Amino acid sequence: MDDSTPPQQQQQERTPGLSVDTYEPKEMSRAEFQLLPRKQQKRIMKQEMWDRRADEFKEKQRQKNRDGRRRRKERVREGEVPPRRKAEDQIRTNHRFVIDMDFDDKMDDREIKSMCAQVQRCYAANRQAARYVDLHITQLHGRCRQRFDSALAQHSGWSPEHVKLDDKEYPDLFPAEDLVYLTADSPNVIESLDESKVYIIGGLVDKNRYPRLTLDKAEKQGIAHAQLPIGQYVQMSTRKIMTVNQIFEMLLRFVDVPDWKAAFLDVIPARKLEN
Ligand SMILES: C[S@@+](CC[C@H](N)C(=O)[O-])C[C@H]1O[C@@H](n2cnc3c(N)ncnc32)[C@H](O)[C@@H]1O
Repeated sequence: MDDSTPPQQQQQERTPGLSVDTYEPKEMSRAEFQLLPRKQQKRIMKQEMWDRRADEFKEKQRQKNRDGRRRRKERVREGEVPPRRKAEDQIRTNHRFVIDMDFDDKMDDREIKSMCAQVQRCYAANRQAARYVDLHITQLHGRCRQRFDSALAQHSGWSPEHVKLDDKEYPDLFPAEDLVYLTADSPNVIESLDESKVYIIGGLVDKNRYPRLTLDKAEKQGIAHAQLPIGQYVQMSTRKIMTVNQIFEMLLRFVDVPDWKAAFLDVIPARKLEN
């Protein structure tokens, strides 16, 4: 059992020998406790143990966050990572990107979790970029929506300048002629980024289970599609299909400095590059 085990499970695993005959209650004296019916004693004991474990769990999480912040400060001091950028130091651009969350029913629960974490990473990257873009998360629904409303509820504190979460679909938000679906399966290759266009990334973690899914969607909708020019700049040992946050981070880097090679080398993990 590690620190991230939820308190309910910790309580069950850690208190097998606990008994009302020896229990010292928190809210009343032992004498008062003994006068209560056994059933009520058990209920009180269980509730208090639960609260105690929940408090311990929360404190451990807080400590972890404090340690993380302290470690980051040290790394900034050592010059290993740059300091966090303040919003007022960022430059706003007119580039527009969409993450299309249409594919909730195509992912299992682990993939949904991973997809939501990737959206978080995209927000964080946009919030820290020297030049940031207009980022829309469209058609947020189903399990991803639920996750954003519960485990990831902190997104309500996200800056609306850096991300817009929407249950609408992108054709309801932008003219069809402006849309370009980015997909590794497209025969077209983009050379640059055009500020009059809206580039769509498929919000999908599928481990290659659904080849052509986004290409078929774009063709059905009659909108433009293209892949990034990865093959023209770097040699990869695997297929050129990237995750959502990798694609978004490449695009952000290109917005900052229009150099595809540098953008790809910055983001693609070294193990995926051919020597
Ligand atoms: C994990 S991929 C999903 C692959 C999925 N089978 C599909 O049909 O798109 C996530 C998204 O990243 C984008 N993407 C990944 N690799 C790309 C590439 N080489 N060029 C352009 N977009 C890419 C696409 O928008 C894609 O939908």
